[in-house]
Amino acid sequence: MKKQLLSMNVNDETIEVAVEASASLLEVLRDELGYIGVKEGCSEGACGACTVLMDGRPVRSCLTLALEAEGSSITTIEGLASGGQLHPIQQAFVDRGAVQCGFCTPGMILSAKALLDHNPNPSDEEIKDALAGNFCRCTGYAKILDAVCSLRPASSSKPGR
Ligand code: FES
Ligand code: FES
Repeated sequence: MKKQLLSMNVNDETIEVAVEASASLLEVLRDELGYIGVKEGCSEGACGACTVLMDGRPVRSCLTLALEAEGSSITTIEGLASGGQLHPIQQAFVDRGAVQCGFCTPGMILSAKALLDHNPNPSDEEIKDALAGNFCRCTGYAKILDAVCSLRPASSSKPGR
């Protein structure tokens, strides 16, 4: 099949890659470009494991055609840590015991980042809503919610789920 040239920015790096028109963003990021922090779970839009940020918005990369990313800025989990330091959301997940097998973690953290970038002091309900599309089979969600809540200014709320 004839390939088309895709130009996008991934984690602050300009990338050009030839892709098939039917290729998903997930396939291109993982298989072509090696961003293996983008996880493949259900491949049908249900689990959120493949979540990346496109121009700051969370998208399910398994359901997004790679060519839809033309000209956009993509953030994967590999783009968060900087200078050898975990991003504060990553650190909060570690500190609050919100990572077990880790399979859901990249998507969960990127969904949380999109929320907090846009709304630094979300309510418990807004946090739950923002993470509702990200499934976790391990943690029971309470520690994940606790981690995100801990990033609010002067908040010690710990919602259950
Ligand atoms: S792998 Fe994309 S939503 Fe599950
Ligand atoms: S930590 Fe295992 S699926 Fe969430």
